[in-house]
Order: sequence, then structure tokens, then C-alpha cells
Amino acid sequence: EAIEKGGYEHFMLKEIFEQPRSIADCMRGRLDAKNGRLVLGGLRDYMNKFQNADRIIITACGTSWHAGLVAEYLFEEFARIPVEVEYASEFRYRNPVISEKDFVIAISQSGETADTLAAIELAKSKGATIFGVCNVVGSSIARATHAGSYTHAGPEIGVASTKAFTAQISVLTMMALMLGYQRGTLTESKYVQLLNELETIPSKVERTLKMNPNIEAISAEYKDARNFLYLGRGYNFPVALEGALKLKEISYIHAEGYPAAEMKHGPIALIDEEMPVVFIATKDNSYEKVVSNIQEVKARKGKIIAVVTEGDTVVRGMADHVLEVPDTAEAFVPLLSVIPLQILSYHIAVMRGCNVDQPRNLAKSVTVE
Ligand code: G6P
Repeated sequence: EAIEKGGYEHFMLKEIFEQPRSIADCMRGRLDAKNGRLVLGGLRDYMNKFQNADRIIITACGTSWHAGLVAEYLFEEFARIPVEVEYASEFRYRNPVISEKDFVIAISQSGETADTLAAIELAKSKGATIFGVCNVVGSSIARATHAGSYTHAGPEIGVASTKAFTAQISVLTMMALMLGYQRGTLTESKYVQLLNELETIPSKVERTLKMNPNIEAISAEYKDARNFLYLGRGYNFPVALEGALKLKEISYIHAEGYPAAEMKHGPIALIDEEMPVVFIATKDNSYEKVVSNIQEVKARKGKIIAVVTEGDTVVRGMADHVLEVPDTAEAFVPLLSVIPLQILSYHIAVMRGCNVDQPRNLAKSVTVE
């Protein structure tokens, strides 16, 4: 097992650090930015269906559902197709309205999640086209779908999903770019510009990982917190949910993720000097608004840890701690902004003496209802 961990103390840390490579592996042979080309083999025979769909329905559980939420923003921004993101466990029992004009994307690391599998069977019986985004080759979900693209992240052993999440987002990003280009909602020049930016992501993830010692030091200060709040907007709203999920899964600290603007409809009541608030406040369309949310938390003496874009001095002046990620296209930010949150949850859990790779009560894959 020590050999399998490749010198890391836990699989989770190894898998976090593998992300520059797993994201590159996911894009290999698919993305050729220099020649302005992007090809997902699994989509070839279904591009027509995809392009002409009335609606995209994404179904998944857990972290994979969070990747689906990021995809909602991606598909709507680039391809202008309405998207619904559904918890598989709700979708399957809701008698949902589905037709042959719907394109369903099922996301699953293991490819064995019982609820996701059942949601697929239901959508299939109504005539929809089902596309799988799975990590495990030959898994039940990969076999049950009409077509799909593997995430190629390699085996993920840690129960808390890390590299599978960024690989899922990578596949979904490529799908959204292809779709936008085919539908003409993305211009050629914008498309090529985005392809080139996407190609830089693995090296930007590498740079982000350099913050590890810094994050370890911050973790020591917060390891005894009883609650955490994670706030973000736009593309960073799903990242806030994922950051909170990572922390509760492995450290057993209660954590909630919220869209930053919803804070005033509830969570703000919880803020006092005991409450750490993690803001994902990268430079994007909602940046100014998130900055005012930070001020609101500061005024109530909450402790602020902020994930910001490199070089941001405004938030640095307000927050107790800042974690910098490289600048990138707004749509690609989740691939970077989630990394410090994975690392933060990892160190806090280790410092609390928790079993990081096999947290209590959780399973890597939930194959029963
Ligand atoms: C379990 C795992 C999570 C995972 C979820 C969905 O809860 O502990 O890490 O995100 O199942 O699993 P899947 O394999 O379908 O992505």
C-alpha cells in the first residue's frame, strides 16, 4: 500500500497532487488547441442529437452532482441550451417529464451508483438519449448509456472524490465548447481562444498546488472550528458546495455551501467571531458583489479565508487569509478554485486525527439505495 501511495501519506493527498496529470490525461488526444480542434470520440455519433436537443438533463449524486452544476453554467453560457441538474435519487421517483428530445448526461466516477443507474433506466424508457461521463471503464453506467466519454483520471481510492471531479469538469467543458461551436453560439475566434486557455489548465493547477504548505498552516488555526460556511457565486457556487462537502466528509466538521448572495436569507445569522467563512472570490462577473458580501461578514467579525485571483490586493486587505489561484477564463475557474478547498479539508481532517481515505459511514460507491 505504501508503494501505491507513491510517497504520499494518504491516497487523497496523492490524488489531489495528481490533478495536473489527470486533467492532462483527460484532454489528451481530444484537445488540439494549436490546430483549433476538439474531438470527443464518444460524442461523434450523437452530435446531432446533442446539438438539436431541446434540453439537457444532468443526473448524478454527491460530488458528481456538483460537477453537473458547473456544467449547467458551461452549457448555458457556451451553447445556449436549457439545462436541468437533478439528484438521481429525486429524479427517479418524481415521474419527471422527459421526451426523445432530451439529452441526458449521467455523471459518475464509479459508474456503479444505484440511484444514477436507475435514473438512466427511467430516462431511457422515455426515449431520451443518455450520455455517460464515467471514470471506471466498463462500469455498469458506462454500459447502460447509449454513448459516453471516459474521464481517464485513473483509479481514485480516497473515498472523498478529488481528481475525478476535476476530470468530470474537464470532459463537460470540452462537451460544452464543442456544442457551442457546432451550434454557432461560440464564434470561431472565441472558441480557439478558449481551447488555448483550456490547454494551460494543467500547468495552472500545478502552480495552485504550490500553496500546500501555506494551506497547512492555515488549517492548524481552524482545525477546532465547529462550523464552516463556504460562499461563492456563478461558476464558484458549485465550488462552494463541493468545498463544504469535502470538509464534512472527511473532517466531520459541519459545513454549508451557499450562493454568496443567499447569505442574507439565513446563514448571516450564524456569523460571529467563531465562524470561519471561506469565500471563493476570483475576478469574474460577480467579483464586486462577492467583495461586498465579504465586507458584510467582516462587519460581523467572521473569520475570512478567501480564494482569490493572483495579485488581488482588495480582498487581501479584508480577509484573514488569502489563497491565490492563477487567472483564467471565468468558465474554467472551478478547475483551479476547488484545489485549495480540497487541500484545506485534507489538512484539517489529518490534524483532527480522522481517517481521511476511509471516513466513517461513507462508501466510495453507493450501490444500494
Ligand atoms: C459516494 C462517494 C462520493 C461520490 C458519490 C457519487 O457518496 O463517497 O465521493 O461523489 O458517491 O459517486 P459516483 O461514483 O456516482 O460519482
